[in-house]
Amino acid sequence: MAQQVYDRKAEDLGNLVGLEHVNLRINNQGLASEFYLSALGLTRDPFMFPGTNNMWVNVGNSQFHLPTGEPNVLRGHVGLVVPSLEELCERLGEAKKKLADTKFDCKQHNAYVEATCPWGNKFRLYEPDEERFGAINLGMPYVEFTVPEGAADGIARFYREIFYTPACVKENGEGRAAHVRAGARQELVFRETDRKIPEFDGHHLQVYAQEFSGPHDELDKRGLITEESDQYQYRWQDIVCLETGKLLFTIEHEVRSCTHPLYNRKMVNRNPSQNNRHYQMGADEWDWTLPRSTKKIEPAPAPEPATPLAKRRATRMAAM
Ligand SMILES: [Fe+2]
Repeated sequence: MAQQVYDRKAEDLGNLVGLEHVNLRINNQGLASEFYLSALGLTRDPFMFPGTNNMWVNVGNSQFHLPTGEPNVLRGHVGLVVPSLEELCERLGEAKKKLADTKFDCKQHNAYVEATCPWGNKFRLYEPDEERFGAINLGMPYVEFTVPEGAADGIARFYREIFYTPACVKENGEGRAAHVRAGARQELVFRETDRKIPEFDGHHLQVYAQEFSGPHDELDKRGLITEESDQYQYRWQDIVCLETGKLLFTIEHEVRSCTHPLYNRKMVNRNPSQNNRHYQMGADEWDWTLPRSTKKIEPAPAPEPATPLAKRRATRMAAM
């Protein structure tokens, strides 16, 4: 019998093993609850920041962090998977009245629903699609940024060489984009645009890095570290051309090690269709994972690989 051949490379994560949170300041926690919890159907983290000056919102195994302050607007959009677009649209419809006089909006497209938060942040919400997003029914498969024309190649190279994570440039109907692997079926996408890009306003994303010190050394050498937060975390924000040093795009990254106290923390998710009139006993909690299909799933498109970690480590050790 012929031996089954497996694509082993398709399971290589690279160095970034998880895109966990996007941090956006907001100026009204009540409106944020109406949008993120009631309308999108997400879950307030019950354990952290229970007060009125910050809220962590769980979406599968990822989160939004929403501290009170001058509102941020992410320059692009956040891709989310939700269990049902039909139920989502009902909730968005109900939110219209409460979020009137804000930037809230929602639009149905062929493949997704676009929702805009009260402060103008855009979200694309998709139904589960194992081939595209993996075996999840709730989660944050990608964050997409709009970047200047001509920046995508340099951005992909930056992540490959500084962060040792697979990255490539692809083109579709919406233009050219750098796709950077940031976890299992999670990506950072940097899509080129000829439109004017607003000034960076200080929002951030957070990733976990398996090899934590190597990228830190590379960033430090170039003067790109912006915060030495603690033993398990640092921040940086400028993505530059590795040849010329020219700034390509700015987005603050909070980089955490896999020894960070919050790594692999269990996120609580609720079943958004529970209510007091049609209550189902035992159905309050929501499991964001799906059983993996037994049919052959095409592996995630294999981007140009980063230098394998073992090789990087060997080079660094030799240089010490
Ligand atoms: Fe953060």
